[in-house]
Amino acid sequence: MAPKMFHLGWFTNFTTDEWNGPFSNGGSPWNGKFHVEIAQALERACFDYILLEDKLAVSEAYGGTSEIYLKHALGMVPKHDPAPLAAVLAASTSHIGIVVTMSTLGYPPFMLARLSSTIDHLSEGRFGWNIVTSAENSAAQNFGLDKLPPRELRYEMAHEYMEVCYRLWDSWGPDAVILDRERNVYADYTKVKAVNFEGKYFKSRGPLNTVRPPQGRPTLVQAGGSPAGRDFAARHADSIVAIGVGTASMKAYRDDVRARAEKQGRNPDDIKVLFLVSPVLGETDEEAQAKAARMSADPNFLEQCLALISAITDIDFAAYDLDQPLPGRLTTNGEQGSLDNFQQWGSGKTLRQLVVDASGGIAASVPLVGCPETVADQMAQAMEEVGGDGFLITTPMQAINRRMVIEVTDGLVPALQRRGLVRTSYSHKTLSENLRAF
Ligand SMILES: Cc1cc2nc3c(=O)[nH]c(=O)nc-3n(C[C@H](O)[C@H](O)[C@H](O)COP(=O)(O)O)c2cc1C
Repeated sequence: MAPKMFHLGWFTNFTTDEWNGPFSNGGSPWNGKFHVEIAQALERACFDYILLEDKLAVSEAYGGTSEIYLKHALGMVPKHDPAPLAAVLAASTSHIGIVVTMSTLGYPPFMLARLSSTIDHLSEGRFGWNIVTSAENSAAQNFGLDKLPPRELRYEMAHEYMEVCYRLWDSWGPDAVILDRERNVYADYTKVKAVNFEGKYFKSRGPLNTVRPPQGRPTLVQAGGSPAGRDFAARHADSIVAIGVGTASMKAYRDDVRARAEKQGRNPDDIKVLFLVSPVLGETDEEAQAKAARMSADPNFLEQCLALISAITDIDFAAYDLDQPLPGRLTTNGEQGSLDNFQQWGSGKTLRQLVVDASGGIAASVPLVGCPETVADQMAQAMEEVGGDGFLITTPMQAINRRMVIEVTDGLVPALQRRGLVRTSYSHKTLSENLRAF
């Protein structure tokens, strides 16, 4: 029997490329050309999408200062706006999906619906929106709020926000543009309708002044951790950014959101849950293991990882002893699900061990270390245990250089393709169709 295929995405952002490593070259200019090369390499390897995560503040979470983030250009800052980059990537590729993170805190719904409709056209149906509500007080303060609203309220507002967007995208009927030369009519005005939305939090008259997007609406991506977040993802998402700690927790997460989707009347197969992983690749297994060991023993790496986790969770990890377990279960109004994955509460592990386990992120769904053949087998095994739907590949602390990408696109992916586990060509034109192809 042919093996069950899975999907691949790449998780990155519009930060500088790795600027001070042995295989990096000083940080590229901010003209997007580095990211164009990356997207083209990923397209060569037939990735479903490249996702550009985003945040809206300069963090001071670690030690109460922005020093560590700015000093090291630590994946959080500087961070340019991913939406214009998506337009550049769209013009330089023709198959890969381009997913951009935009916060419901930052954009009025009309503007977001219009912007995403525009990029969906520029990319001919390959645009995705990673829906986030933002999770930091500092981001909220950049937008005129005193602090971040509580999680439940953020999600309640986000549901209503989605409702406005759906109506705006639908405000142009599929057959509104008729381009009738004989009758001299571009668009049939009777098929372009006001929405007159008046909710508890948002109000928008509509119609959108952009033509209906090629996908009808952008592909929707989300990363829900809490029960409210999972319900949100189950209701709206075409693909979910997920992390687990080991295959049992990955399976539990996927089963849970699929059940929630079914309860809401959706076909769970229409939601592709992609798990974040950061493979460590070498020419041999020993070389890869040595690389992983070197990384996790480096005190700078450990401190920078903690700073990153602080920024994501709004918790100052500089205040805790690396060689002790955390003093209690930590909670946040920010990314609680991510924090729970990281803190592995009840495991008795020291903070140092937790950071090593997280392998340069907030958690590693499954550790992947070895030569391409070995890692391909590890991924196949994980997918068999989890049930599907694929992986979002990233790099430790999202530091990225060309070599890291090539190891995956020209080493790991061909090994997966030889096993029949991932696509060898794009079967459809739009991102939503490619995601649903298997
Ligand atoms: C892997 C991953 C990536 C995320 N990327 C972003 C991001 O780019 N920007 C952002 O504001 N939030 C991001 N989030 C946060 C989510 O949008 C969400 O707030 C978080 O998962 C907490 O969900 P919860 O409130 O349901 O626990 C990410 C979460 C995860 C797990």
